[in-house]
Amino acid sequence: NQYTEEINNWTPHSQQEVENYRLKFLVAKGIVKGLFEEFKNVSSEEKRLLGKVLNEFKQLAEARYAETKDLFEVSADSSKDSKEQDLTLPGPGFEIGTRHPLSLVRKEIVEIFKKLGFIVAEGPEIEDDWHNFTALNFPEEHPARDMQDTFFIRKQEGNDIALRTHTSSVQVRMMESGTPPFRAIMPGRVYRNEAISARAHCFFHQIEGLYIDEGVSFADLKQTLYHFVQELFGEGTKVRFRPSYFPFTEPSAEMDISCTICKGAGCNMCKYTGWVEILGCGMVDPNVLTNSKIDAKKYTGFAFGMGIERITNLKYEIKDLRLFSENDIRFLRQFETET
Ligand code: PHE
Repeated sequence: NQYTEEINNWTPHSQQEVENYRLKFLVAKGIVKGLFEEFKNVSSEEKRLLGKVLNEFKQLAEARYAETKDLFEVSADSSKDSKEQDLTLPGPGFEIGTRHPLSLVRKEIVEIFKKLGFIVAEGPEIEDDWHNFTALNFPEEHPARDMQDTFFIRKQEGNDIALRTHTSSVQVRMMESGTPPFRAIMPGRVYRNEAISARAHCFFHQIEGLYIDEGVSFADLKQTLYHFVQELFGEGTKVRFRPSYFPFTEPSAEMDISCTICKGAGCNMCKYTGWVEILGCGMVDPNVLTNSKIDAKKYTGFAFGMGIERITNLKYEIKDLRLFSENDIRFLRQFETET
């Protein structure tokens, strides 16, 4: 019939047109209901014929409405929104971030060594067994490898890939890359498979130092680190060296400074000893030089490595390592005034 054609050709352009369609065809007094009313009055013979046609028409009319009724809802909504929004109100302000305390301390340490002629070098955090262990004189199957709980990425006979456990791997990369003299510091993130607590984390940051040249001695090591401590913690801070062991240095030492918090009076930070350990160091083992293709008869050198977290804890009296990686704005904001 005429209406079937009208409905088939109908394309609405607005919500209003959809509504007009509904009012024309689908409401109680609309055309569809009207036709069904008329249908009651025809003879039963005609009913058989018309019934099917009429039902099909009803379905078509309803289907077209279902298809079109949501088409314009979005635009209808947004026009409502724009009426309610006051565009003259000021927008939300920008918040300027602050430097992370670890970045502040790393920068400070780097500046001190730069003045002594050290350059900054970096290496990959995903490291192979050679650079993290073997070249550094950790024999295979040696228990010293267990000193550092390693996150392995791929374990393969003689060719493990792991997250570096210390920045000493960058020493090897630097020495392999050329000929002495080398004078560099190497800041970076390192990883160890440890349970997370106030005093340990599965990742932290180190700064490695390396100085290789002809005639470098333990006296150079002591004087360099002594100067560093005076610059970082203030004139008059005491240092002491205790004999220690690292596979890649011989002799090896750990360096303590007089506790910056209690000034030797005794506190939690120094466990009431007046001293806190801040780094490991030593003369680079000749085996490491040879492994990195450096002439161990001609050159000597020293290396040291420290944890940036430990130093930051001392400088700012931070007692829980987890604060550094929690992104709590109340913690980070306290360093706002620093540059
Ligand atoms: N790599 C050692 C550590 O992570 C620190 C160190 C570096 C010691 C260089 C001596 C020389 O504990």
